[in-house]
Amino acid sequence: MAKIKIAVLFGGASSEHEISLISAYTVLTNIPKDKYDVFCVGITKKGHWMYYPGEYEDIKNGKWEQNPDCCTAVLSPDSVHKGFIVLNSDGAILRKADVVFPVLHGMNGEDGTVQGLAKLAGMPCVGCDMTSSAVCMDKTITHKILEHAGIRTAPFVELRRFMLKNTDEMIRVITEKLGSSVYVKPACAGSSVGVSRAENADELKAAIKIAFAHGDKVIVEKEIIGKEVECAVLGNGNDIIASIPGQITPAEKFYDYDAKYKLGTSVLDIPAKITEQQTEKLRETAKKAYIACGCSGFSRVDFFVCEDGLILNEINTIPGFTSISMYPKLMENMGIPIGELIDRLIQLAMNSEYN
Ligand SMILES: Nc1ncnc2c1ncn2[C@@H]1O[C@H](COP(=O)(O)OP(=O)(O)O)[C@@H](O)[C@H]1O
Ligand SMILES: [Mg+2]
Repeated sequence: MAKIKIAVLFGGASSEHEISLISAYTVLTNIPKDKYDVFCVGITKKGHWMYYPGEYEDIKNGKWEQNPDCCTAVLSPDSVHKGFIVLNSDGAILRKADVVFPVLHGMNGEDGTVQGLAKLAGMPCVGCDMTSSAVCMDKTITHKILEHAGIRTAPFVELRRFMLKNTDEMIRVITEKLGSSVYVKPACAGSSVGVSRAENADELKAAIKIAFAHGDKVIVEKEIIGKEVECAVLGNGNDIIASIPGQITPAEKFYDYDAKYKLGTSVLDIPAKITEQQTEKLRETAKKAYIACGCSGFSRVDFFVCEDGLILNEINTIPGFTSISMYPKLMENMGIPIGELIDRLIQLAMNSEYN
């Protein structure tokens, strides 16, 4: 039987570009090669798309962009093409793909943009579709949908750029609704980029400025005191599994970018150190949230487990896939090793009609 052709997208015009390179390396080195014929398209930080025929090792260390064999490649929106137009020295060739596998984190990749392009192209795409990706990328929209589904999230205030004209009023509203200890985050980012904690008006103003550097919408949340517990969900429609959850104990004050990727000293516990009852409730809520947001393929659903119950923090539609990442570790613990996981994700993309 002919192998299934997979186009792996990596990099991306995103603040999480570097994480994507490492995640893509994990995917590329573990994808079952007997079944799948893989080619790579890298996207630079500036948003240039390039066909990349080089070593996987050079993706991880960022050297791939300098490879002389790289050439422009664009995903054609034409659904007759079903592939990429590659512009090499001989001219343009069409490189067909059966499935697009975006290993992209954050903006311009995890947010529905690439998923929309794949939809226009009529090509199955691994993971969540355009709408669910866009919903989960935006933390205030996620909160509103979850609230509608009866799932508890942190009390929050949504900030838009135009509100900056009246900062004092904005600070007053935030403090009145949320108290003085808050988390300020870009509404549409990930990997803790632009996230800060604030506990007074001056810190709040500084934190808001930082968050707005990453986008036009900011979410301010009440500080939640609880254990950070994450659940890996896999499947389409209501045919889904929610993993035994894992817990993160950040090395730093909170689970910031360095604690996630650089220091390697944050502690991951699988299973999470919570009661059996909390575990069951969390797995059930993760599934409910996944369905409410219209997710498919896979997602990691993150919670705070507090003394008075669960609070859902966020849903990551393309969770980190590095060797230290929670999602593949949680699935491995469920008896699904990484190669099989990647295989299942591709199969789910090709069979998403009942989603
Ligand atoms: N409301 C909150 N209360 C307490 N800690 C928070 C809150 N929001 C975020 N954090 C901390 O900041 C980290 C990053 O925030 P998160 O919402 O997960 O954004 P990202 O999408 O960047 O991962 C969390 O893992 C947690 O450690
Ligand atoms: Mg997070």
